[in-house]
Amino acid sequence: MKYDTMLCGLIRKNRLAEDIFDFTVEAGKLAEAACPGQFAHIYVPGKTLRRPISICEIDRDHKTLRFVFQVRGEGTRLLSQAEPGDRLDILAPLGRGFDLGGTGRKAVFVGGGIGVPPLLEAAKPFGENAAVLAGFRSGNAVILKEDFERAGNRVMIATDDGSSGHHGLVTDLLAGLACDVIFACGPTPMLKAVCRAAKERGVPCQVSLEQRMACGVGACLGCAVRLRRETGEEYYGHVCKDGPVFDAAQVVWED
Ligand SMILES: Cc1cc2nc3c(=O)[nH]c(=O)nc-3n(C[C@H](O)[C@H](O)[C@H](O)COP(=O)(O)OP(=O)(O)OC[C@H]3O[C@@H](n4cnc5c(N)ncnc54)[C@H](O)[C@@H]3O)c2cc1C
Ligand code: FES
Repeated sequence: MKYDTMLCGLIRKNRLAEDIFDFTVEAGKLAEAACPGQFAHIYVPGKTLRRPISICEIDRDHKTLRFVFQVRGEGTRLLSQAEPGDRLDILAPLGRGFDLGGTGRKAVFVGGGIGVPPLLEAAKPFGENAAVLAGFRSGNAVILKEDFERAGNRVMIATDDGSSGHHGLVTDLLAGLACDVIFACGPTPMLKAVCRAAKERGVPCQVSLEQRMACGVGACLGCAVRLRRETGEEYYGHVCKDGPVFDAAQVVWED
């Protein structure tokens, strides 16, 4: 299956932090088709454009999808008001997710803030072979730590104010950590630093990018991103269709 729309019943709703919500929806065939790192485009009543939210967890046995999102503006505020029993109009699964390769490799997952949820489903199959480095503003914004630990991942936390884990940047935690592959999602400065570290070590790296989106399926050219071919030639791709996950070597970072 490519992608489809479905009215998905909201079966679980939790509040993980002040402005962060955790939804589990019945997603039938969408859950069967979804892969780690892909996203859903969720319709918000009253808004013309759907809102893109990454798939945090996929439960193929129970045919559910989990989404963790932060209230940023009006669309996500309205979405956060949905209650169990309500049905959400979801277009999914969209985009290209993480290419996990061999899960026997030592992997490092680096997430910043609301960039942490898309890493959960990707890190799970790596079990104890994965170190998850997760950065947040402060201790009360830390989310999903126990979820990664349940999967057997080793979790290291960094906070800006030092109220939990390492006091400083999440990328500081990369120092001295040996690995075969790096996966990352979070703010652009963090992604740039992760890509630099991966390049210095000669380790492959995949990054999940965010971009303002409209159609979500490659039809409107609204989510252009500058990319580089192996030959060095630059071109524009689409975050919604060619990504959101890209090989770090492909991405041309704007200064
Ligand atoms: C592929 C993809 C996956 C995403 N996954 C998640 C996720 O798992 N959890 C989550 O909380 N958010 C995620 N986002 C971001 C989320 O889509 C936006 O926060 C949301 O669309 C904002 O809608 P709004 O109506 O609440 O805010 P708006 O009123 O539209 O905007 C409010 C603020 O959010 C910023 N913003 C809006 N859209 C984006 C965007 N696409 N990227 C970055 N900043 C934006 C605006 O610049 C503005 O400052 C993802 C975005 C993309 C492109
Ligand atoms: S959002 Fe329309 S092309 Fe990507």
